[in-house]
Amino acid sequence: MSLSPAPVTVSVSLPCRPTVKYDILIQAGLLSTVGERLSSLHKPCRILLLTDDVVEALYADTVTASLSNAGFSVVRHVIPHGEASKSGENLLTLLEKMATEQLTRSDLLVSLGGGVVGDLGGFTAAIYQRGIPFIQIPTTLLAMVDASVGGKTAIDLKAGKNLCDAFHQPLLVICDTNCLNTLPPEIFSDGMAEVIKYAMIRDSVLFDLLKNGSPNMENMIRLCVEDKRTLVEEDETDKGVRQLLNLGHTVGHAIEVCSNFTISHGSAVAMGMVIITRAAVKSDICNGDTLAALLDLLNKYNLPTECPFTVEQLFAVAVSDKKRAGGFITLAVPYDVADTRLVTVPIDALENYIRAGLSE
Ligand SMILES: NC(=O)c1ccc[n+]([C@@H]2O[C@H](COP(=O)([O-])OP(=O)(O)OC[C@H]3O[C@@H](n4cnc5c(N)ncnc54)[C@H](O)[C@@H]3O)[C@@H](O)[C@H]2O)c1
Repeated sequence: MSLSPAPVTVSVSLPCRPTVKYDILIQAGLLSTVGERLSSLHKPCRILLLTDDVVEALYADTVTASLSNAGFSVVRHVIPHGEASKSGENLLTLLEKMATEQLTRSDLLVSLGGGVVGDLGGFTAAIYQRGIPFIQIPTTLLAMVDASVGGKTAIDLKAGKNLCDAFHQPLLVICDTNCLNTLPPEIFSDGMAEVIKYAMIRDSVLFDLLKNGSPNMENMIRLCVEDKRTLVEEDETDKGVRQLLNLGHTVGHAIEVCSNFTISHGSAVAMGMVIITRAAVKSDICNGDTLAALLDLLNKYNLPTECPFTVEQLFAVAVSDKKRAGGFITLAVPYDVADTRLVTVPIDALENYIRAGLSE
């Protein structure tokens, strides 16, 4: 099969770890070429293909056929869709299956699905036999623009989301934009919250594109991935500028928890961005036009802007945020469109930010 025309390609390389380099490929129709693309990076081996039940029915046969035709031997493992699958129980079941199937360190794990499959697969690959290579094939917008890039992998614990985690960079990321055609509208909108986040953090080109028209998907995903690539290359382990990606997430995670996860991640991040931006306006570090522009964009992409919880409810959860260090927490605070900065505040000041951000 011919592989032309070449897909949009964004390359990630980590200056502090020169052996870690990988490409993110973005194009419609890539799923049927996964095998050929992988064979230029890895010799034929056994592959554990991890997916969820929804994605399996849509795309697993295409990916399996492509891998098999290229000489890879595929063992499929399917988990139920949804956040509850990012669990210790599923992790152990998957590890046991890989051991029973006698996968070795020269074999591969492929995650085909949204961020749940990507995070569980990546974390499993990080710890199985002290780490095996893995490929990300994200099928949601959120996973394409965010979760599949940068090497954060995790499962949830009963005490909270992503509390058991590891950095493990993929060997390759393949984004087939045709997968977006089958996404339910609300799951597409969830991904748009993360896209708007990049625009607010650092990308005025992306902001204008979102504001003025209907962006071409390949181009939009490329801009987001380039933004994330820049931050990850500078700060792989999240000790500095990478924390800008937490814009809307400190309060957003609290909203998810307060709703018992009935409010989706993207919706919660949208509300979280509004709260922190309004608080910045009230503190005179950001002007009202920036908040108005953010609200317009969130409305345009069908994302909620009103939070249903009180300051007391949100602060009680946010106070135990993973991003807290001692008595301080670092917040990503918009100063303007495409200009978000990190501000470290005493944990008690977070309550004031939330209070200011909730009230009109
Ligand atoms: N590792 C990171 O850097 C990072 C970053 C952001 C989010 N995350 C994690 O990502 C997860 C959320 O990811 P998500 O929003 O992709 O959720 P998800 O993986 O639960 O997918 C959402 C739903 O969409 C379905 N789906 C997936 N692809 C589809 C397609 N092409 N067509 C139709 N349905 C499809 C899935 O079956 C699921 O029901 C969270 O666990 C979050 O913590 C990780």
